[in-house]
Amino acid sequence: MNGVRIGIVGAGFIGNMHAQLLAEIPRAAVTAIYDTQLDRAQALARKVEAEAASSLTALLERVDAVYITAPNRTHPDIALAALDRGCHVFCEKPMAVSLEAARAMLEASEQSDRVFQVGHNRRFAPVYRKVKELINTDRFRPHSAHIKMNRGELLDPPWVGQPDVTGGFLYETTIHMLDMVRWLFGDVTSVMVAGSAHEYGEVDDFSMLLTFASGMHATLASSADASWFFPFERIEIFAHHATIETQEMVGVTYTEGLDSRLTTFSFHHLSREDQWGYRSEDEAFIRSILDGAPVTVSTWDGYKAVELVEACYRSLRTGERIPLDV
Ligand SMILES: NC(=O)c1ccc[n+]([C@@H]2O[C@H](COP(=O)([O-])OP(=O)(O)OC[C@H]3O[C@@H](n4cnc5c(N)ncnc54)[C@H](O)[C@@H]3O)[C@@H](O)[C@H]2O)c1
Repeated sequence: MNGVRIGIVGAGFIGNMHAQLLAEIPRAAVTAIYDTQLDRAQALARKVEAEAASSLTALLERVDAVYITAPNRTHPDIALAALDRGCHVFCEKPMAVSLEAARAMLEASEQSDRVFQVGHNRRFAPVYRKVKELINTDRFRPHSAHIKMNRGELLDPPWVGQPDVTGGFLYETTIHMLDMVRWLFGDVTSVMVAGSAHEYGEVDDFSMLLTFASGMHATLASSADASWFFPFERIEIFAHHATIETQEMVGVTYTEGLDSRLTTFSFHHLSREDQWGYRSEDEAFIRSILDGAPVTVSTWDGYKAVELVEACYRSLRTGERIPLDV
């Protein structure tokens, strides 16, 4: 075939999502699936007309690029093996669950000429693209922001409640917003974090205060056992007589000036794959491989997100405000 032969490692929820989106991209073909549970690999292989591979090595031998969609702690070993074999890599978030492993991946990708993209999909979501467009104007220079990212549970899939697999709740869920604030507001200069443990044998409820090199500051609340009350994810941004507010991945409302006019952009009509940016991130990965387009979410971005999570956990442990290098 012409185009990119892709292998999927981990045939669960997000592996299925990517495989089915990739199957719709003309210049890509999912050709192999590997999962430690063979029946899962076989089921997905049937859906996208690929072959189930008997091992990671067998998969890497027959593809040009690999999607790492297995649980968090497995990502570094699979990514390093794939780069070693000369494959392009798409690695789901979090890139790694320790700074040491993230640094090894960053260095390996810098020494390689292969494309390495990290799955911070929200950067491709139309809601957040609209926010980025709005705050890049002279009319809207943010002073501060108020952010929440909640979950109803850490039960599904079962490993999301096991910190030895996830690296901790911040790695599993909140890392999406920690990457998002860097993308929207620039480098974070410090974090101060309070937290408490309730349901899941780990700290599962966090209140954070972030400062930025731009002079901005933000609060971020993130609870693992709040509820699925909509929107469970929201950013409010405040500027001179102006406010932007997001609703999940479906809408952005903003107002400028002191009168009561509001402008709303709605993405209700889009599919979930498009609202959440999954289709666009997959298309971007293929463009980077075949057309040399710049990598949209790099290993540096993946590393900086891991660094932020680590700084948050350190602040929680020590009770101190943790400065970050810019
Ligand atoms: N970007 C997003 O919005 C998003 C959404 C969901 C999940 N994720 C990430 O994707 C990854 C997978 O999450 P999920 O919800 O699809 O989990 P899942 O449990 O549904 O699927 C994971 C699959 O990986 C398989 N697996 C486990 N260890 C493996 C290994 N060493 N090699 C190959 N396969 C292995 C499991 O058998 C399972 O089928 C996680 O890192 C998660 O954080 C990202």
